[in-house]
Amino acid sequence: MQVKNIETIKTFPHSMFKEIFEQPQVIKNIIGEYVDKKRKEVIFNDPDKILKKLKKINRIILLGCGTSYHAALSGKYMFSEYLGIEAEIDLADEFIARKVKTDSKTLVITISQSGKTADIIRAVRLVRKQKSFVLSLTNALNSKLDWLDNFTLYNQAGEEKALAATKTYTSQILLFILITLYLGKLQKKITPMLRIKIINGIIRLPKKINQILKQNVNLQIVANKYYKLDDLLILGKNYQYASALEAGLKLKETTYMHAESFALGEFLHGPVAISGKKRPCLVFAPLGKNYKEAKEMIKKLKKLKKKVIVITTQGNRQLIRIADKIIYTPKTLNLFNPILTIIPIQILAYHIAVLKGINPDRPRNLNKYVI
Ligand code: AGP
Repeated sequence: MQVKNIETIKTFPHSMFKEIFEQPQVIKNIIGEYVDKKRKEVIFNDPDKILKKLKKINRIILLGCGTSYHAALSGKYMFSEYLGIEAEIDLADEFIARKVKTDSKTLVITISQSGKTADIIRAVRLVRKQKSFVLSLTNALNSKLDWLDNFTLYNQAGEEKALAATKTYTSQILLFILITLYLGKLQKKITPMLRIKIINGIIRLPKKINQILKQNVNLQIVANKYYKLDDLLILGKNYQYASALEAGLKLKETTYMHAESFALGEFLHGPVAISGKKRPCLVFAPLGKNYKEAKEMIKKLKKLKKKVIVITTQGNRQLIRIADKIIYTPKTLNLFNPILTIIPIQILAYHIAVLKGINPDRPRNLNKYVI
């Protein structure tokens, strides 16, 4: 699969950098494939097959590994917020270990950009034996996963050469938004007005991502300031907990920094004890549902004399006198924040890796997928 119409800017020194910059186009590709812009509707091919099956579903299980698991976590929160469905979620290997019983009324959504991850393939074999319906989100046409599942949605992201998943992560989250809209219409849980509002928001996403990409030079300056750090604590709530987990993974795998992520509310239940002066905190605090709690936590951290880096929404002036460093993302619906807030961290992780002399495309001890 090729990414359509992406300008190849010759000055991209690494694939990871190029792939981060491809994200607006990947979002456009997904819109082109799965969104009817005129009717403001989500369109999946072979709708009869999926419709027939979805009507009988009474349980949803989400499975992934690494970055794909983090995208699934955002999906879980969407299903809960917009559909009132409490989906189960697990890491594929843990799911296999639990020998979970599923049946024909279970929808298993598997997320794997490569479509080759062994844990995922084993989990799919297991649930298919138990006659469950498998919907997979993958970037790999004709992969093992693609052969084993019942229905596939593609990331439309083109080849991702760098080891770190960037464009495949944000496209996985967008696919979850589309599934939420599709199910929301089917189950009459999302009003046409809200659906139109969300679809209009999706159409505006590439522009918003471009606004973040334009901050590249500023983010390079931030990377220069912090690249010698050995430890970073990362906090976020709900969708931003998924962002915190993904930020921690991205920084670990590309920069070798110890970056540990916590659910915002959980931080005070013990982890705060390890927060010394040398361990700054990165707090995801975009305006939206959980902003107030994030702001309170930032204040608490400052009382503890911690250095705090914040990701918040453009135009929010409330944190200027509180935080040590603020990185801004454009104003958007809270639902899109997990796509937007991770992008500055992808860029930071890239620059920190380069400053440390690490090849961000091929960090040590890792393969593109685990078999
Ligand atoms: C992502 O940057 C990592 N390299 C890794 O966590 C990856 O997401 C994980 O191994 C799952 O890969 P998959 O999506 O191809 O199944």
